[in-house]
Amino acid sequence: MDELLSYRGRHAGSSAIRDLLRLTEQPDVLSLAGGLPAADAFPVERLRQATERVLGAGGLYGPRALQYGPTEGVDELRELVGRNLGVPAATTIITTGSQQALDLIAKVLVDRDDPVVVEVPAYIGALQAIGGQFPNFIPVRSDAEGLDTDHLGELLRNGLKPKLVYTVTNFQNPTGATMSLARRAELGALAEQYRFVVVDDDPYGALRFRGEPLPPIRQFTSMAVSLGTTSKVLAPGLRVGWMAVPEWLVGPVVRAKQGADLHTSTFAQFVALDALNDGPFLAAHLVALAEVYRARCQALLRALDGLVELHEPDGGMFLWGRIPGVNSADLLKQAVECGVAFVPGSAFCIDGSGSDSVRLSYATLNESALAEAAARLHRAVHFISA
Ligand SMILES: Cc1ncc(COP(=O)(O)O)c(C=O)c1O
Repeated sequence: MDELLSYRGRHAGSSAIRDLLRLTEQPDVLSLAGGLPAADAFPVERLRQATERVLGAGGLYGPRALQYGPTEGVDELRELVGRNLGVPAATTIITTGSQQALDLIAKVLVDRDDPVVVEVPAYIGALQAIGGQFPNFIPVRSDAEGLDTDHLGELLRNGLKPKLVYTVTNFQNPTGATMSLARRAELGALAEQYRFVVVDDDPYGALRFRGEPLPPIRQFTSMAVSLGTTSKVLAPGLRVGWMAVPEWLVGPVVRAKQGADLHTSTFAQFVALDALNDGPFLAAHLVALAEVYRARCQALLRALDGLVELHEPDGGMFLWGRIPGVNSADLLKQAVECGVAFVPGSAFCIDGSGSDSVRLSYATLNESALAEAAARLHRAVHFISA
């Protein structure tokens, strides 16, 4: 029946790595692969209260929370997001997770074969969402200070005219790297000069456990689109995210979203709003959450004991590094036999690099499970190197 499939239906394939990762979904395998947020840190009780406040007798929002709503999102949540980001509510759009924001921005900016710059390595979900438009992906190097703006500048001076540049500026997925202040300013300056959109995807910024926050790209250019989400600070099942866009993009994005899902769940938006509006709860929750991830990061680093060459992250959920002399896709097969899983680096790299790299997530398992997972990884490396 393939002849019935559209171009997208035929070509948006699953990657070899995804198929390999299916192997890792066995009950006796400790997974450092998935990157699911710590379920034991979900604010279940506060969200239960929020649900009651939204729906309960004399509830705050009443039937509005169950009715169709505006495509842009409910006004109160847009205002809150606008205040938090320091942008007008009129240029914020509530999305069904930040994943939808990636899909929408690609749909309104990118035509087939348009050049789109992505960092190497990059978030796989962004490659998938933007890839749905069949762009010409242009890889740009990155390191411990994030996307390499010198490399990007060189490509631009040589005539590259990208529609957009995609980057995760804080505790990047997969590397954990945070873009330096100088590079943020430089990326903003390049966007101004060469007129491309910078998508500053920031799901992890609130999970900082070291150092000081840095300004977002929108402080350096009017060409930035900022993405945010409740997924890593409240719970991903809510599917509530947002985007702040330049004014000229509001109409096109809203029309694309209308076709996609009319609007993000009104009910979920009100539940998120109730929790996000509760300043004392949110402040205490974020402190506790950062501590959970700091402790897990340290536990995994301790147990790895130098097995992986890496830079320690300042927040977020991921460690990324090299195991010299080891092909990480081969290592994964051995690792699964030893009862541990991770994601091989090449899955994130559109330029074919990353074959000796691994992404390890410390978000999901508790500290003792992380120690056991690292011990199994040591064993797998020992077997494969023997
Ligand atoms: C960098 C990055 N962007 C976007 C997303 C999607 O998140 P959401 O749950 O908000 O759709 C993720 C999820 O892991 C991510 O790591």
